[in-house]
Amino acid sequence: MTALTAASGSAHAAILGVGAYRPRRVVPNSEVVDAIDSSDEWIQQRSGIKTRRFAEDDETVPMMSVAASKQALDAAGIAADQVDCIIVATVSHLMQTPSAASLIAHELGTTAAAFDISAACAGFCHGVSLAADMVRAGSSRHVLVVGVERLSDITSPTDRGTAFIFADGAGAVVVGPSDVPGIGPVVWGSDGEHYDYIRQNHDWRDVIASDDPQMPHLIMEGSAVFRWAAFEMAKVAQEALDRAGITADQLDVFVPHQANNRITDTMARSMKLPDTVRIARDIVDAGNTSAASVPLALERMMAEGEARSGDTALLIAFGAGLAYAAQVVTVP
Ligand code: COA
Repeated sequence: MTALTAASGSAHAAILGVGAYRPRRVVPNSEVVDAIDSSDEWIQQRSGIKTRRFAEDDETVPMMSVAASKQALDAAGIAADQVDCIIVATVSHLMQTPSAASLIAHELGTTAAAFDISAACAGFCHGVSLAADMVRAGSSRHVLVVGVERLSDITSPTDRGTAFIFADGAGAVVVGPSDVPGIGPVVWGSDGEHYDYIRQNHDWRDVIASDDPQMPHLIMEGSAVFRWAAFEMAKVAQEALDRAGITADQLDVFVPHQANNRITDTMARSMKLPDTVRIARDIVDAGNTSAASVPLALERMMAEGEARSGDTALLIAFGAGLAYAAQVVTVP
């Protein structure tokens, strides 16, 4: 047998820079309530959401991704041609193939490896884990991870359970080599028994075969998702702390998927997070942007001084699949 040369990477990986793109159009609850017989008060009380952003025609998945990526690259001090791989987490790039990532790579001016991953709201944290492993294994030195959604394209404005929740935006990070561990072990998994809890309402083949084809949209069993997220995900978050070798009182920042403020509150209580831990609340004016929600929330906390360089942050994302991933990271 001929011996092959093995790849070898950096001892450790870290997030080197964070970027975000928030669509221009701010949509208050008053714009969505009539079609779902709801009220601003109900939406704020049940979810925490006051406003969200909906992308306009030119704010496409690639356009928002490129804007967030440029900001992340600038923050990291890395040029696009130093990126070896681009991972894009999304469920709302409405071209089955090719990937959004290859177009984003081209628009950034690089021929880096590029592919999309489909893990719904958990996609970004999956991407960060892959990127960290790639940097450590040596298949890439710098990896750009993007979480991006235009959920307004696949949300029905008349669906009471989702119309007020889902929204649009993009977030990105650069993952690269580090002298010390900056991305802790991932805790991830899937619970396919509940595949139906959050899903596209119709398979494309059924849509095409229908006499009255309609754009498919997301549907969700809200209460079941709520219970799963609030209770099961607190255990996953705790396990991510344990695997990183830290306790809750060593945490500075908690950045959970921005699904619902009440889910965040329940998780924080179950984990007995001390009051000193600063908690992301981007959902209030971003809504639930699925794969984009964790990097958007992190970027905002950094921009507002709530998350500072060197802080220890717990990330957790969860959603359709059901899929989840959590890790502790150092804020760049
Ligand atoms: N506006 C006003 N009232 C509404 C409503 C809406 N959009 N949707 C439901 N209601 C009403 C129901 O009719 C019901 O009324 P009733 O008590 O008179 O029968 C009541 O509110 C409770 O309905 P329910 O479906 O049990 O609501 P809920 O308390 O579970 O809240 C969600 C709904 C969607 C806010 C909540 O389930 C949730 O946040 N789930 C998780 C969603 C999520 O995070 N998804 C993303 C994961 S990635």
